[in-house]
Amino acid sequence: MQKRISNLPFQGTKEQEEKLREIIARHKGEPGAVMPTLHEAQEVYGYLPIEVQTMIADGLGVPLEEVFGVSTFYSQFSLTPKGKYNVSICLGTACYVKGAAAVLDKLTELLGIQPEECTPDGKFSLTACRCVGACGLAPVLTINDDVYGRMTPEEVEGVLAKYSV
Ligand code: FES
Repeated sequence: MQKRISNLPFQGTKEQEEKLREIIARHKGEPGAVMPTLHEAQEVYGYLPIEVQTMIADGLGVPLEEVFGVSTFYSQFSLTPKGKYNVSICLGTACYVKGAAAVLDKLTELLGIQPEECTPDGKFSLTACRCVGACGLAPVLTINDDVYGRMTPEEVEGVLAKYSV
């Protein structure tokens, strides 16, 4: 699945930037420095906005294309911020054949965002994921650590309403 760039403006703090500079300084000059630097930067920011990737490229002295190539290739890296509630719909084969795409359509309609985007108030983010190992419950929707099985489009609104605060 192609990764999307964040739809929200970047808002990093001074403290985060200081931590990032420390991380970069620690890894500068190491062979294969990009991967561990991205990992630690994601721990600081929660995701990897292009502004952070640019600072990493400049700081390590490597081309931005190389940093971007790594961040977009590995699934553990996220280019978009997560909301307070991360809504994830499984689009693995079992879930797909049981109608996960219709559940996803309903989610995008109700939340007003596409997969890998976050609502402007930072409350919900939406992710489409691969098999989460609960195929017997297909289609599977998760919201943070809560799991909802055998989802139908009609049930989506009621489930989202539980996360109104
Ligand atoms: S395909 Fe969705 S849980 Fe396995």
